[in-house]
Amino acid sequence: MNLLQVILHINGEERVTTIRAADTLLHVIRENLGLTGSKPGCLNGDCGACTVLIDGLPIKSCIMLAIEAIGREITTIEGLEDTHMQKSFVENFAFQCGYCTPGFIMNCHALAQHHSHVSDEVIEDWLHSNLCRCTGYEEIKNAVRTVLDQSE
Ligand code: FES
Ligand code: FES
Repeated sequence: MNLLQVILHINGEERVTTIRAADTLLHVIRENLGLTGSKPGCLNGDCGACTVLIDGLPIKSCIMLAIEAIGREITTIEGLEDTHMQKSFVENFAFQCGYCTPGFIMNCHALAQHHSHVSDEVIEDWLHSNLCRCTGYEEIKNAVRTVLDQSE
């Protein structure tokens, strides 16, 4: 088995780790680096539980190879601290289960970082990247709307 020693830039730190060429970024984040906030759900790009930011844009880490992230800035839920989106999730009761929430927050945080003036339809489209199997999306949409309205 070919092992590679690589440096990953993650949450503002440089982490040295040993990977196989076929390791997904999600696997390396969780198993090598011990950052378990990004969740393994479907493992085929559908559910969004594994969403991280790569250079500020949301990516499903279960369908990205770790070697593709070399030289890029990776942010996981552990790398966010007291963001407007995290506070808004709490205040709008959008913090649902611990499994889907990290992915929702990463996705919604990226939306707020890149687009301040968007319609409710765009928010709904953006939220299609993440699945919640058990509750609703209304509170999450309200959390995003609150942050976007505050940034105007
Ligand atoms: S675990 Fe990555 S999209 Fe579902
Ligand atoms: S899957 Fe997390 S609240 Fe439904």
